Amino acid sequence: MSKASHVIAVVNQKGGVGKTTTAVNLAACFAATERRTLLIDLDPQGNASSAYSIVNSPQHVYDVLIGEATIEQVAIRSAIEFLDILPAGPDLVGAEIELVSAEGREHKLAEAIARAHDQYELVVIDCPPSLGLLTLNALTAANSLLIPLQCEYYALEGLARLTETTELVRESLNPGLQLLGIVLTMVDMRNNLARQVEAEVRRHFGDKVYRTRVPRNVRLSEAPSHGKPIILYDIHSKGAVAYLRLAEEILEKAPFAASRNAALPEGEEAAVEEGESTASDREA
Ligand SMILES: Nc1ncnc2c1ncn2[C@@H]1O[C@H](COP(=O)(O)OP(=O)(O)OP(=O)(O)O)[C@@H](O)[C@H]1O
Ligand SMILES: [Mg+2]
Repeated sequence: MSKASHVIAVVNQKGGVGKTTTAVNLAACFAATERRTLLIDLDPQGNASSAYSIVNSPQHVYDVLIGEATIEQVAIRSAIEFLDILPAGPDLVGAEIELVSAEGREHKLAEAIARAHDQYELVVIDCPPSLGLLTLNALTAANSLLIPLQCEYYALEGLARLTETTELVRESLNPGLQLLGIVLTMVDMRNNLARQVEAEVRRHFGDKVYRTRVPRNVRLSEAPSHGKPIILYDIHSKGAVAYLRLAEEILEKAPFAASRNAALPEGEEAAVEEGESTASDREA
């Protein structure tokens, strides 16, 4: 394969909105369609790495950013065929500071990904909860951004700031950057406020908001402590069904989707309707 990868940055400067859960599980679902996928953990917290049981990796994304290693040297095979992980480590915090004086500091990740362009069809970047230099590197490297959004009171204000930053990045660093879509996470439709916020988000962003919502699901929060993405931990859970369906929706709509790959595994289709749970959720 020689074509360039499509790079998706999972971004929201607000903490705890489901960025990592979305990046970790979407990457797994993309790989399940036999698309060669790289998940980049760009957060010093390293949650996406530990979600795949990767801790204390000797080299990680920091070494790539400072030019000491290539993605090929550092990426680790995951338990899922077609999925590699570029892990993070705590010294990634230092990268924010060390890179400040570096020439082309916002382009470090883009350059590294460009060098690995024939290795991966899709690259998913899990960003930290800030709009600092690491996130700027992700936005500069990305073809598109995916925004996980929790339907809370301040959700739209946060979005406005993110939209401004994206606009600045488009003007100065990466004119091709597109909004891939907005995914509603940790959804509890019994909550009135959540329903109102959802209506408002859909009014503002129209069909950029995916039809698939990710429900609040305990299996999704358990999976990382077992070092597994949800499709390995419990493929019949509501969370797995939602992420499989979201991957399908993204691949259906997206510019990079038109190709020959395998279909996604079947979840329990009927079980994701509002308020229902699957057999395995009920066991949980
Ligand atoms: N759909 C869900 N149902 C239940 N729990 C969830 C769901 N999505 C995420 N969580 C849990 O909520 C917490 C925050 O999620 P996550 O780590 O994905 O957010 P984040 O945006 O990456 O956070 P940070 O900004 O700190 O990086 C985690 O404990 C995660 O397991
Ligand atoms: Mg995170």
